[in-house]
Amino acid sequence: MEISANTQALAYLVAAVLFILGLKGLTHPASARKGNFFGMAGMAIAIGATLLGSEVQSYGFIIAGVVAGAIIGSVLAARVQMTAMPQLVAALHSFVGMAAVLVALGTYLNKAQAGLLNPVLMGELSAGIVIGAITFSGSVIAFGKLQGLISGAPVIFKGQHLLNALLALVTVGFAVVFATTEASWALVLMTILAFVLGFTLIIPVGGADMPVIISMLNSYSGWAAAATGFTLGNNLLIIVGALVGFSGAILSYIMCRAMNRSIINVVFGGFGGESEGGPSAVAQAAEKGVKAASVEDAIYWMEDANRVIIVPGYGMAVAQAQHALKELMELLEENDVEVKFAIHPVAGRMPGHMNVLLAEADIPYDHVLEMDEINPEFATTDVVLVVGANDVTNPAAKTDPSSPIYGMPILDVAKARNIYVIKRSMRPGYSGVENLLYYQDNCSLIFGDAKDVCEGMVTALKGGGH
Ligand code: TAP
Repeated sequence: MEISANTQALAYLVAAVLFILGLKGLTHPASARKGNFFGMAGMAIAIGATLLGSEVQSYGFIIAGVVAGAIIGSVLAARVQMTAMPQLVAALHSFVGMAAVLVALGTYLNKAQAGLLNPVLMGELSAGIVIGAITFSGSVIAFGKLQGLISGAPVIFKGQHLLNALLALVTVGFAVVFATTEASWALVLMTILAFVLGFTLIIPVGGADMPVIISMLNSYSGWAAAATGFTLGNNLLIIVGALVGFSGAILSYIMCRAMNRSIINVVFGGFGGESEGGPSAVAQAAEKGVKAASVEDAIYWMEDANRVIIVPGYGMAVAQAQHALKELMELLEENDVEVKFAIHPVAGRMPGHMNVLLAEADIPYDHVLEMDEINPEFATTDVVLVVGANDVTNPAAKTDPSSPIYGMPILDVAKARNIYVIKRSMRPGYSGVENLLYYQDNCSLIFGDAKDVCEGMVTALKGGGH
């Protein structure tokens, strides 16, 4: 069955509306499931309408690709841990980038043979290859950093910005030569340089700035898809690419704001290394030592508290402690303790990471508050329980101008009466920066796996506490 161009355009319109509804749904945890459903329905319609369109000549390769992709995708999706999602997303961005490059190269070779190249198409091909190649190699580096295959620390050397600027300029130069002369040597040089540029743009970014890079590469992958849409003359791909491109750009802006950093700073900052000017504040704090506490100590204070705020972080995701936390919440509420969850915008390893995990454990949305909402409440809170969060609670961001994270907004955990932090060791968080919170008089550390400790708290509470 083949559908007419008009029917296909109509189906594309419906799919585009569904994608927009999908994005709208994803703006709030309560509507996120519905949003996902709209997105999936839109994609099913889009794929169906494309496959039934007149452009498709034969189905052999398409079926082979879909079957192989579906098998690999299903296995990956079933196996991937929530903590490994950011690197999976980075890997998927790299596929989009490579697809844009390959489609553009294929189109060039086909049309050149048939003598159908024209200036507009040449411009589209150049843009598709350059954006796609930068997205590909940038995403591969991001994947390596997030997966721990390469060091997450920024790689900085003298003249780096100048080198990047030169690379960008020469790449654009070759793109212009290719677009105007159709010369294949310019195509080859442009492609190689764009791959190198993606690499050199991402290596200086490190530590806590990775959230911005993930959303930026997300945005690039959207533009790469849009460029492919122009090359193939597919309107839906242009619309979807633009939606992804803009939503990724908006997310990058939100992430930057959450960390009080400008996008220029992130891309050119090389943030996340050792702090400069000597670790004086850290050294002073370290001299005081840290206090270790037991599950029973924490329960003693939590049972009698008016309010307990739980601050989840990456460690909660690693330990999968969210279900134990739900039980802890219910038991405390039975004791008339008010329980709230405080979410920092970059807690965990991907945007919305903590919200997803808490929702998975059926923790009610009205118990989960964003940083700006919850911060005024810490000063009047009896107990804060920090569960595998680190960087997002570090007061050095406010008090230590020599710290690399100085200026980043944090959860004001330090102001609470009693703070209990669950972590396994004295290792620092993702940014590699020592947390001054641990040396405060009102802070104690409970060393252990977050799930084990939270389950221990649940058992202690059930057994009548201390
Ligand atoms: P982190 O600063 O990374 O700290 C995680 C803490 O969890 C560590 O102190 C670690 O200490 C502890 N931990 C790990 N496994 C644990 C386990 N099984 N049980 C108990 N504790 C465990 O986390 P955060 O506060 O959520 O901050 C997020 C950081 O990641 C920020 O720097 C952010 O910029 C960066 N980042 C965020 C994103 C997004 S989009 N959210 C993406 C990439 C990077 P031990 O090893 O001692 O246990």
